[in-house]
Amino acid sequence: MPELENRIWMNMLIAGAAVAAITTVVIAWNSTQKAPLVKTRNRALELLYEFQHAAATPLHALRQIAEHMAIEMRAGLRRGGKSNLLMLPTYVENLPDGDEEGLFYALDLGGTNFRVLRCLLGGKDGRVLKQEFEEVSIPKALMLGTSAELFDFIAERLVDFVSREGEGFKTRNGMQQTVREMGLTFSFPVKQQSVKSGAIIQWSKGFDIADGVGADVVALLQSAINRQRGPKIEVAVLVNDTVGTLAGGRYWNEDVMVGMILGTGTNACYVEHDLPSHVQSGSGEMIINMEWGGFWSSHLPRTFADEQLDKESLNPGQAGYEKMIGGMYLGEIVRRVLLRMEKEASLFGGPVPSKLKEPFSLITPEIAKMHADESKNLRVVAKVLRDVFGVQKTDLAARRIVHDVCDIVIMRSARLAAAGIVGIFKKIGGEAFDSTDSRTLTNLHWDSQEPQQLDTKRIVVAVDGGLYEHCTQYRVYMRAAVNELLSEAGAKRLQIVLSKDGSGIGASILAARHSQHRGANKITCPMERPSEAAERPSVHLCGGNSSSCSQHTQSELPPRSTQFTQSEPTPRSTQFTQSEPQSNWLQATQHSVSYVYGLEYID
Ligand code: BGC
Repeated sequence: MPELENRIWMNMLIAGAAVAAITTVVIAWNSTQKAPLVKTRNRALELLYEFQHAAATPLHALRQIAEHMAIEMRAGLRRGGKSNLLMLPTYVENLPDGDEEGLFYALDLGGTNFRVLRCLLGGKDGRVLKQEFEEVSIPKALMLGTSAELFDFIAERLVDFVSREGEGFKTRNGMQQTVREMGLTFSFPVKQQSVKSGAIIQWSKGFDIADGVGADVVALLQSAINRQRGPKIEVAVLVNDTVGTLAGGRYWNEDVMVGMILGTGTNACYVEHDLPSHVQSGSGEMIINMEWGGFWSSHLPRTFADEQLDKESLNPGQAGYEKMIGGMYLGEIVRRVLLRMEKEASLFGGPVPSKLKEPFSLITPEIAKMHADESKNLRVVAKVLRDVFGVQKTDLAARRIVHDVCDIVIMRSARLAAAGIVGIFKKIGGEAFDSTDSRTLTNLHWDSQEPQQLDTKRIVVAVDGGLYEHCTQYRVYMRAAVNELLSEAGAKRLQIVLSKDGSGIGASILAARHSQHRGANKITCPMERPSEAAERPSVHLCGGNSSSCSQHTQSELPPRSTQFTQSEPTPRSTQFTQSEPQSNWLQATQHSVSYVYGLEYID
């Protein structure tokens, strides 16, 4: 018995010792595991703070940037003036006034997609009676090929679209109308010789077609159209997308003075009254395409990710401002920061996922989605990391860091764009800008020759582009920065509105304005007035082929506002949701939509 007891005691002792040993190992293992975890997490936070610091846009820096923008604008306007802004005369000297009437086309080329649209204009009372568009993605190879390859591809789709013109688009002389006039929106820098000709200066946004540089873009397109042997189509105007946006906005609101794009790329144009002597204008004003993507200032907050991105881009040393603001680059900046965090701080636990190493694998709509994630556990962030990089499991701390990186990059873009707007405002808008010490800043650089009546006039900025349209927080950040930079009176005078798809519609309105065939292009019958149309909006969704069009009521579509109010912006929630179309922003898709009632101002 005592022997049995001894054995039991002995066994218990052994078992106890084993448990103790295992516990010690587990504790020790845990502590060896936790130590690096804490260490790496701290390193990730260090990297986050470092990035945040380098990307910061404090008010004093934004002021300097706005000031510098205004200085560069003046320099760029002077003949031979040295400036990093091209300040290109556009020869658009007559802006829409609502009288435009008839059927006009537009081709909008400048990103990963191009868009063709037809627009039936009904004059002052009718406005945009009907419009229809189709969007086509451009194969990557064509963005890097020859100009003939690119323009043949585009012309084929354009001719196909024009030849599918439905009965609803008939003009008064529709049966005899032999020429379809078109506005060409070309969203790259062009040195225009007239309102319908211009030589390509350089490519951007992932395009690099060497034989196109120096060529007349209208001639390139016109010969490609002629090669198609389809309906007769003539380019009536050549405009930058910013110019189309300004014209589209002006069509509805005569205070629109600035057109701006915040999409794949970024740029702005404005109506200049104080033209230098070498730029002649019958009306005394002309739209100037700033090409502000090329703006540079030592006050721009440049991080390691911007430097890497620029070095490896197709146009190193160029388009510095655009590379900090444009949708083409924001996702890539975030990816580079996350890659560094993964390499140096095992943010996702290692090994480095191959997709994370792939340039441009994270596109801006994805970071906008993560940024808009308000769930407690950042579910959307986890999903994007899984879908895009194949990172199966992430902890909440890592997801928070990712969210913060997206916020820093989006906020920087919005605040820098705001400084640019304020720079334009400084150039054209008159006195009363600065929130704290308006006298110092306004008197310092104010050009007294500029028209004084502008001092009190409202200035409306029409903005087009997915970044502004789809990312609610972007609009909030931008408006907040504008308000910080301006005095209260100045902020009240500056209104920013979304001019949805304005660049294409604006081009067709400008084509009407510069039409050579006005008589043949009158509308056929009294159409619905916009107020009636707005009450009964009808929308057609087509699969790129008119026979497959089906009619949908407005309520089946993502919410649209058709208000044309003058009120101050009330940010609408347009975050990416399942029902929100992301298709026409950076994502290559093909579809066609027509609305009875045109432009949309939601801001
Ligand atoms: C182009 C501009 C264009 C802007 C927005 C830039 O890359 O140089 O001409 O307006 O993108 O599309």
